[in-house]
Parts: sequence; C-alpha cells; structure tokens
Amino acid sequence: MAVSGLIMLGYLVVHVMGNLKIFFGPDEFNAYGHWLRVVGEPFMHREWVLWIARVVLLTAVVAHAVSAAQLSRRDIKARPVKYVHKRPRASYATRTMRWGGVILALFIVWHILDLTLGTVNPDFQSGHPYENVVASFQRWWSAALYIVAMLAVGLHIRHGFWSAAQTLGAGGKGRDLALRGIANGLALVLTLGFISVPVAVLTGVVS
Ligand code: HEM
Repeated sequence: MAVSGLIMLGYLVVHVMGNLKIFFGPDEFNAYGHWLRVVGEPFMHREWVLWIARVVLLTAVVAHAVSAAQLSRRDIKARPVKYVHKRPRASYATRTMRWGGVILALFIVWHILDLTLGTVNPDFQSGHPYENVVASFQRWWSAALYIVAMLAVGLHIRHGFWSAAQTLGAGGKGRDLALRGIANGLALVLTLGFISVPVAVLTGVVS
C-alpha cells in the first residue's frame, strides 16, 4: 500500500508541475504534451518511455487497490463486533480513505476518457492538450467534477502520506510533527496546484 501510494504521489507531483505549464500558453503546453511522446528518442522508440510510465502507474494502481481490499478484509476479521464508542475518533481524512479511494479510481477512468482518449469530450482534438483542457473546463459541471475530485485527492494524500511514512518506519518521537507538516503541506500544494487549472478556465484567465 505504502510503496504503490508513494509511486502515485511521485507521479502527481510531476503531473501538477506539467499542468501548471498551461499558464505559459498553448504553444508551451502542447509542446510539453508532444515531448511526453518523444522523450527518450532516438535511443527509445516513440512513446516507449510513456508506455513504461503507464505500465508502472497501472501496476501501482492495481497493487494499491488489491492491498486496500486485503487490509479491509483483515480489519473486519480482527473486529467482527463494532466499537461501542459511536463518536468517530479518527480524523475526516482517515475515515474517508476507502470511499475516497473508490471515488479517485472512478475519477481516473473519467479523466482518461476526457483528456487522453477524448471519448467524453466532444471537442477533443488529438495532439492539442491545451485546447482539450480548455474545452473540458468550459463546461461548468466538468470543472466542478474535477474540483471535487481534487479535494478528494488532497484528503487522500494527507492521510496516505502520513500512513506510508509510518509503514516504512519513518515515524517516531520528534519526527511525527514534521511528518504531519509535510503531509499537510504536500496535500495543500497539490490540491491548490491542480484546482488552479479549472478555476483559471472558469474565470477566463486561461482560454
Ligand atoms: C485539474 C486537474 C488535472 C488536469 C488539468 C489534468 C490534465 C491532464 C491532461 C491534459 C492529460 C493528457 C496529457 C496528454 O495526453 O498529453 C492527463 C493525463 C492523465 N492524468 Fe491528469 N490532470 C489532472 C489531474 C489528475 C489527477 C489528480 C490524476 C491522478 C489521480 C491524473 C492522472 C492522469 C493520468 C493517469 C493520465 C493519463 C496519462 C497517459 O496515459 O497518457 N490527472 N491529465
């Protein structure tokens, strides 16, 4: 769970940096989209690096989902009788990990259909990611869907990063406060970075 989560977190850090290039205009953003397909050439064939990244990511997603299901089953087995305490003792981010994960998995499918394949984006043009992002977010409900999903991403990272650090033995006296700070900071920066794109299209800053 921890290792696959950190792989995906690494991807999100790179992805948000790439997305922010949209503020430099269509030429720079589309050139970046093109570079993703030719990176590694001439040593690698066209799209090989992209496909390696896709396989690594997909493996991480599957490993993450399988581990989550195994953990859930172990949780239920360990405590077949519910706690008497009804008041939730864990934070909101902790309690929403399972449903948050399911929502994110559904979001990723929608996102690929929207901006990679264009199946659900009527104005999709292959090789023009800038125009595709603008076309998608000019539909208010699409922008709203992404904004809600990005809040779920933020919550998931906030608790997930903290849990991964504990699992991998990075926690301990004196370090927990720093780890919480890093988890909160990462979640906030990534959420704001991702949300800035639909907000910029909705407000006309990016058009
Ligand atoms: C507002 C937020 C986001 C925007 C504007 C955005 C934008 C994009 C764009 C434009 C592409 C297509 C790139 C291309 O084909 O050249 C893409 C691909 C992708 N994005 Fe995002 N993204 C966002 C959030 C996310 C999040 C939160 C995740 C993961 C949870 C994610 C995962 C992916 C994946 C897996 C791909 C497919 C990569 C591929 O196989 O080609 N994105 N995104």
